[in-house]
Amino acid sequence: MPERDREVYLRHAGPFSLSAAIGERRSSDRAPVAVDQSRRIAAAPAVPEDEIEDQIEFLTTIAGQIVEEGEDSYDTANIKVLIGAMQAVLDAGLEAELRRRLLPPESVESRPSRSDVARGPVRLALRPALSEEEVRRFEGERPTDRHFDALIAQDADAHDADTGRLVFRFRRGVLPAAAVRVAREVFGDIDERMKPSSSRMAAAGRLDLQRVQALRPDVLAVHPNPENPFEGQIELRSGEVLKSNVCNPVKSFFAGYNYDRYRRYHERGYPTGFSARFPDDWATAVPFFEAIGDLLLDHMPDEARAMHRWCEEHSVKPAFTIGRTCLSTVAVNVNYESCFHLDRGDMRDGYSTLTAVSVGGSYTGGYLVLPRYRVAVDVREGDVLFNQSHVDLHGNAPIRPDAPGAKRVSFVTYLKEALRRAENRA
Ligand SMILES: [Fe+2]
Repeated sequence: MPERDREVYLRHAGPFSLSAAIGERRSSDRAPVAVDQSRRIAAAPAVPEDEIEDQIEFLTTIAGQIVEEGEDSYDTANIKVLIGAMQAVLDAGLEAELRRRLLPPESVESRPSRSDVARGPVRLALRPALSEEEVRRFEGERPTDRHFDALIAQDADAHDADTGRLVFRFRRGVLPAAAVRVAREVFGDIDERMKPSSSRMAAAGRLDLQRVQALRPDVLAVHPNPENPFEGQIELRSGEVLKSNVCNPVKSFFAGYNYDRYRRYHERGYPTGFSARFPDDWATAVPFFEAIGDLLLDHMPDEARAMHRWCEEHSVKPAFTIGRTCLSTVAVNVNYESCFHLDRGDMRDGYSTLTAVSVGGSYTGGYLVLPRYRVAVDVREGDVLFNQSHVDLHGNAPIRPDAPGAKRVSFVTYLKEALRRAENRA
């Protein structure tokens, strides 16, 4: 193992990034990601489903032992085993899972212990690996393990090392259990009650016949818009070509308040999606969002107060805010592996929140990936992430349900800037 790689590995070894050494070595070889991907696909026989658990167990044990040995007792034989293990993990597409398992057990599977709280959140200075223009080229791509080196699964405050901007604040296990229960009860079957969305553009990926047919078997062909590969016209088996453009259908549903300048609700704010269709259930869910709003105030007091002030100055509150929060709108996502995208419509300086619940069993993956900083965050039930989804390109790593029918239901809440123009605000 070249000395430089060894150093790089030692620098990164630890809870976050077992395989950072391999990542670094790849980038120093100047192998573009696309080439890596094809090599990986060509050289990577998939591990049979029933062997995955054993493989992960085996590799975790080996790698864990070597990490424990640390720098002092490093020996070459072990390094070779480790490299072999890491390569096998990469080939099997299990890199993220291995990293997750290598985290100290208390920081992965349970709520923060008193000692974690005493230690406080880890502070991360994130150095952008790509310029804003460069990262925009990922738009519409599917996030994979290759887009991040560090998986964050503990309390963390992450700032941009160049600008000082708070990129995200992550707090684990802070949502009260009662709020989680409400979310699960009200939204656990939302994907059976509402139609998939066909307007998510880059987040839904390039318009793709198979993905459209998976939810609409009556479709024969798709004709992507030459100027925008994320939307296009669909042609039905009957021969009819539908006039309006559509995107790939995804299980992502709006709730809360929207603003519509052009269509039915001219210049008006109005309850949207789930809130309009199921007003009683929506009323039941409000305490869940109030719990999120309270956490925003607790953990992001300056930002939350600025958002509250903005709501008052523009009279958006209380007509278009959810309960006592400074949040107007929600996206509820079910097993949604969003492709890289930017959210639209958020208040410019505002922060959005992300939380999740498990329904019908556990799952692995679904990490929120920020490719510009090469980090991902494992947001699980009860955790809350505060970030700027309209500023940082993001997407979700693949989700692997552990049981048939298991769902990751996630919630993005934000404050919609356009509501300040609604003529029917208070
Ligand atoms: Fe998003």
